[in-house]
Amino acid sequence: MRAASTQGRPAIFVTGAASGIGRACAELFARRGWFVGLYDINAPGADAVAASLGQGNAVSGGLDVSDPAAWQSALAAFWERSGNRLDVLLNNAGILSTGSFEAVPLSRHDAMLAVNVRGMITGCHSAFPYLQRTPRAQVINMASATAIYGQPELATYSATKFAVRGFTEGLDLEWNRFGIRVSAVWPSFVRTAMADDFRHISSARSLGIRLTPADVASTVWTCATTTRRLRKTHWMVGLQAAVLSLATRFAPSALTRWVVRLIAK
Ligand SMILES: NC(=O)c1ccc[n+]([C@@H]2O[C@H](COP(=O)([O-])OP(=O)(O)OC[C@H]3O[C@@H](n4cnc5c(N)ncnc54)[C@H](O)[C@@H]3O)[C@@H](O)[C@H]2O)c1
Repeated sequence: MRAASTQGRPAIFVTGAASGIGRACAELFARRGWFVGLYDINAPGADAVAASLGQGNAVSGGLDVSDPAAWQSALAAFWERSGNRLDVLLNNAGILSTGSFEAVPLSRHDAMLAVNVRGMITGCHSAFPYLQRTPRAQVINMASATAIYGQPELATYSATKFAVRGFTEGLDLEWNRFGIRVSAVWPSFVRTAMADDFRHISSARSLGIRLTPADVASTVWTCATTTRRLRKTHWMVGLQAAVLSLATRFAPSALTRWVVRLIAK
């Protein structure tokens, strides 16, 4: 049985909220009247953004998404401050290491799996009791256009985003019985601190880094607030991701491989 919410405004829990896309999402939802939880491994950064959102509109704290115990305490604190509701869990925190696969230390490959995949899974598992008690609750996972086709110099990062895709699809079908929607947002390259790591790689140079965090936040907003009955699970951000995604659905895989290789040259 779902408990009624004690507070009128919807509430979103954002991971990786201290900077980039997470920050832009937190700011947009707060501007539009939502209560926002800002959580990040960079606790002072999350606190600073929360402070700028005005008193009573946000709660913030430190959270390493790969740590299950940290999720438990962050969610409990959020639940109390949000008026006992968790309308949207935005699994946004992510990390990336670029370079030739063999040159990137194994510990960095492991870290990408721990944050981008295990962090998301731990978040959903930990948040389930709260989501279940909030009518029409949703999870939004941050995927990436690198999940359309695996990318050289980003192979493990791409693999983590393919995992985001599969996990989102499976859990969305599974949690339909609880009325909990699970979606993924797919940006191509975005101008954030993360872009400093990949601006030298060939595909970023070929395609350019065109999107802003605000572009992604706008898609997250539409995904979270759409009232369309015939809903979609995957939300592309920007023309490039949309065209690439559509093209790979119809092109033979040899052609897709050739095009990706050309972009990554
Ligand atoms: N920038 C891009 O081009 C791009 C494109 C597609 C998808 N994405 C995805 O968008 C998301 C946000 O990326 P961004 O570009 O805003 O990067 P960013 O580096 O600006 O922000 C990432 C935030 O996550 C936080 N973080 C890192 N590890 C964490 C952990 N273990 N626990 C909690 N927080 C942690 C960081 O402190 C930082 O505040 C990521 O999932 C990323 O993979 C980014």
